[in-house]
Amino acid sequence: MPRLAIFASGNGSNAQRIIEYFQGHPSITIDLILCNKPDAYVLTRAKILGVPAVVFSRADFYETSRIPNLLEAKKIDSLILAGFLWLIPRNILSAYPGRIINIHPALLPKYGGKGMYGMKVHEAVIAAGETESGITIHYVDECYDEGKIIFQAKCSISPIDTPETLAEKVHELEYRYFAEVIGEVMGCGT
Ligand code: GAR
Repeated sequence: MPRLAIFASGNGSNAQRIIEYFQGHPSITIDLILCNKPDAYVLTRAKILGVPAVVFSRADFYETSRIPNLLEAKKIDSLILAGFLWLIPRNILSAYPGRIINIHPALLPKYGGKGMYGMKVHEAVIAAGETESGITIHYVDECYDEGKIIFQAKCSISPIDTPETLAEKVHELEYRYFAEVIGEVMGCGT
């Protein structure tokens, strides 16, 4: 009976999609949202959807055991990063070996690494004149965007695409595949 926690830093549209996908699921539950920004819209989404949410500071995350202790108390099995922008510290990596999954809005290994998130990724992809982009779902390790790739899906880029229209295409792929791939990784695919 996998119990999941979602880490998110901002809007939280992927978090919402994942929560809705697993509502009523026979075995997977989303038990907690963790957020590093007190004004992030994902917190409003969590409230509307009835999922408990916890806000934490940089000091909590990197200098204390507050988050691993909370995850243990909530009996969380796996962690999902859905638009979460901080590097995961060693104490959490070692508590969840091979059980942390991230989504990145490009085809890794290109356009990943520190500082590559959200619109910055799409701006870089368009500026480079790429003809395709997509999503990468991957395990998380101690480096940004370098863990083993689980799944990728592509979209094409036309000459009239902008970072904004590319972001929409990539979000569509995220909403279509992320929750489904999580279910498969947990051994509970539909
Ligand atoms: C998503 O596109 C996700 O892939 C990206 O942030 C966006 C969050 O949107 N993540 C990264 O860039 C991680 N490097 P959301 O808050 O609406 O789900």
